[in-house]
Amino acid sequence: MCGIVGYVGARSACTVVVDGLRRLEYRGYDSAGVAVVADDEVRVVKRAGKLTNLAKALAELPPADRLRAAASGIGHTRWATHGAPTDRNAHPHASADGRVAVIHNGIIENFARLRDELEAAGVELASDTDSEVVAHLLAAELARTAVPVGVGAGTSGSDGGPGGDAGISGGAGAATVGDGASGAGLVAAMRAVCARLTGAFTLLAVSADEPGLVVGARRNSPLVVGVGAGEYFLASDVAAFIEHTRDAVELGQDQVVAITADGYQVTDFAGAPAPTQRYHVDWDASAAEKGGYDYFMLKEIAEQPKAVADTLRGRLTEAGEITLDEVRLSDQDLRDVDKIFIVACGTAYHAGLVAKYAIEHWTRIPCEVELASEFRYRDPVLDRSTLVVAISQSGETMDTIMALRHAKVQKARVLAISNTNGSTIPRESDAVLYTHAGPEVAVASTKAFLTQLVACYLVGLHLAQVRGIKYADEVGAVVAQLQAMPSKVDEVLATMEPVRELGRSLGSARSVLFIGRHVGYPVALEGALKLKELAYMHAEGFAAGELKHGPIALIDDGTPVICVLPSPRGRAVLHDKMISNIQEVRARGARVVAIAEEGDTAVAPHADHVVYVPRTPTLLAPLVTTVPLQVLAAEIAATRGHDVDQPRNLAKSVTVE
Ligand code: G6P
Repeated sequence: MCGIVGYVGARSACTVVVDGLRRLEYRGYDSAGVAVVADDEVRVVKRAGKLTNLAKALAELPPADRLRAAASGIGHTRWATHGAPTDRNAHPHASADGRVAVIHNGIIENFARLRDELEAAGVELASDTDSEVVAHLLAAELARTAVPVGVGAGTSGSDGGPGGDAGISGGAGAATVGDGASGAGLVAAMRAVCARLTGAFTLLAVSADEPGLVVGARRNSPLVVGVGAGEYFLASDVAAFIEHTRDAVELGQDQVVAITADGYQVTDFAGAPAPTQRYHVDWDASAAEKGGYDYFMLKEIAEQPKAVADTLRGRLTEAGEITLDEVRLSDQDLRDVDKIFIVACGTAYHAGLVAKYAIEHWTRIPCEVELASEFRYRDPVLDRSTLVVAISQSGETMDTIMALRHAKVQKARVLAISNTNGSTIPRESDAVLYTHAGPEVAVASTKAFLTQLVACYLVGLHLAQVRGIKYADEVGAVVAQLQAMPSKVDEVLATMEPVRELGRSLGSARSVLFIGRHVGYPVALEGALKLKELAYMHAEGFAAGELKHGPIALIDDGTPVICVLPSPRGRAVLHDKMISNIQEVRARGARVVAIAEEGDTAVAPHADHVVYVPRTPTLLAPLVTTVPLQVLAAEIAATRGHDVDQPRNLAKSVTVE
């Protein structure tokens, strides 16, 4: 949460940074601000509220304002943690003399002590944030070490360089990346200050004394470098600079990076050159545009067949084996697994709940699913033969990172399912399976969820295969069923108009309940989460069999109850029980909406509306039954006049615990 952008190059830094922030607004939209170095001054403009407020303030500046011409700058879009979402608390934060400006993503856990220290030294803080202390600490460090700056040590690269993985040259022309040896300048100050901070942070800073330089640092929060031609970018996510370059460099933990127009330089907090990894992003700016849809969410719902197909592509070798993307584990390690924990948050947690049914069924290994935020605090029993599967679209969710680290300390093996190449969770895992959902911009997750389901099925099949429980032909048969899913999702999408109409009629409901059994239960939870997130309505998902143990008391005349039915084929017992549960709620006045399989004739007499989805194997049904619930939530939210892509109080990537 919080989006961060930095730029140095020949274009207007302010324009590049604001455009970048537009693509990062999914990370938070409580306030936005920029700081640029213009005519040896740091200029800060910031506003509470969405980015449009900042854009308006910038547009009101005189056309000849020198701020527009600045070649280096930083920008921030905020998801508030410390301090209300006001102008005052918006980033960037400046030092008392206004010569340094800083933006921050994360939480500085020892900020109170640092603030007391600054106040004791006579510094007056201008905001309620934890972040502001960094601006003052940098200024103090710069004052303490003020000597002329020069080129220092560090791993660096340039547009003409060999990939930025070796060498210390700043690239063509003299890099003005400060310090290193001298211990002066903004880079050295950043290192010194970072060494004093605890918690999670991505920081970017500019100084009036070093125009043409942006310095960044990261610990437990994301930061990538964009490598352009004569221009360099820093951002929380490649989306911020994808329209300018698809070449990126991953930063590791506890690293400081400096960019100029000539290159970038990466060191650790002690100033030693740090190894970096350069990569090419396999999607482009058009993938991150709305493409004619009213909302990103609608576009992303429509992209699901492709995302599912892309995630499946190339997974089955000619020998009939399922392949993961990165494997730092032996087959024997996987054979030794005697217990699986899936840890995740939000929608990814619901994908994990579905995965449990498939993994236990296919591998016969006991599998628990846990909210990542609870996992480590209850002291789970973990050892070398435990496999922890961490599911995270962003790869940066702090709760999931902490659960993963806890598992690793206990010697468990960790397998990551993520949509973000080079993010923290896959980097810290022993094996990785990437989903290929492409960029997901809407805060409410859709295509990421479906691709996480696919990845979970693949992990289950891989484990079953390695352990000799399933032969190649059995695995191949399930993969063939999976490969048929994109066209089934397409079929669902083609029949959504009645669902939208239904959504428009549900806009004034006080509360909506979702019920399901077996894999329909996590789908019910996901349907309810979507509605809460987007429509701000009371919505809850229940295991249908649990209703009679309490939740049925919620049902009143006309309460909409969305019922996710299992197939009547194969799981007839479950289907019959679900019909009984539907009758129970209907008898109490519920308005029943059934999501049922084509050809399910038994449900129609008991439902007010039936949404039919194509026939699928039972375990794979969530790939189709979830889709109408996504469409329904988006439509209800739009009917109620809400911002579908940016629901209040939320952020897509939650990088604090
Ligand atoms: C946030 C988002 C959810 C997402 C969850 C986990 O809460 O709003 O949509 O499911 O984080 O995110 P991750 O990136 O770890 O999948």
